[in-house]
Amino acid sequence: MLMDIIKARHSIRKYTSEQISLEDLDKILEAGNFAPNAGGGQRSMMVAVHNSEFAAHLGRMNLAKFNRSNLSGSYVSAEQPSVIDDPTMKNGFYGAPTVVCIFCQDNFLFKTADAFCIAENMILQATELGISSCIISRGEETFDSEEGYKLMREWGVPENYSCQCFVILGYIDGPQPASKPRRANRVVVVH
Ligand SMILES: Cc1cc2nc3c(=O)[nH]c(=O)nc-3n(C[C@H](O)[C@H](O)[C@H](O)COP(=O)(O)O)c2cc1C
Repeated sequence: MLMDIIKARHSIRKYTSEQISLEDLDKILEAGNFAPNAGGGQRSMMVAVHNSEFAAHLGRMNLAKFNRSNLSGSYVSAEQPSVIDDPTMKNGFYGAPTVVCIFCQDNFLFKTADAFCIAENMILQATELGISSCIISRGEETFDSEEGYKLMREWGVPENYSCQCFVILGYIDGPQPASKPRRANRVVVVH
């Protein structure tokens, strides 16, 4: 049932070194490709890096310009600590062996919304396949360097595109976390 998959999905930040199969990656990318997109323009694109060393390198680029100074007191997860919880972390992709980078057209009003619709479709498909995932932000900062722009050119990302977010993929190391309790008053039904 879809609701079981929705509730079984958690943001995972502890990974084994086991790589996901290309077959599973294809399904996850297909789910992203069929996400809703503003105006039906299909402007976003995905670049999947199916290489754990390369993913770790990009994960370090992801944190290179990370400013933690305005985050003091923030708390994300005790079971799956994030880079906000543990400032000693150097890899923003947490050792996941695969990362999908999602790019969208810079001057498009819904670039970020489109990218995160893709991300959500992908992480739900991953969950159904028993693959763990996490959405990661700081897309623009990650590629904001000579090396970053060079990679985007090599990957065929158009000049006027920028990275909106990432989906990291792999197998969980350790037990699944529990969902935080839902905050009250977030759902209103009006009759
Ligand atoms: C817009 C957005 C950006 C996020 N960025 C990051 C990130 O950069 N790093 C990270 O570890 N988790 C990131 N997350 C994952 C959230 O921390 C996670 O969804 C939240 O703590 C709830 O936990 P759950 O996904 O396990 O339910 C992001 C999630 C969203 C929706």
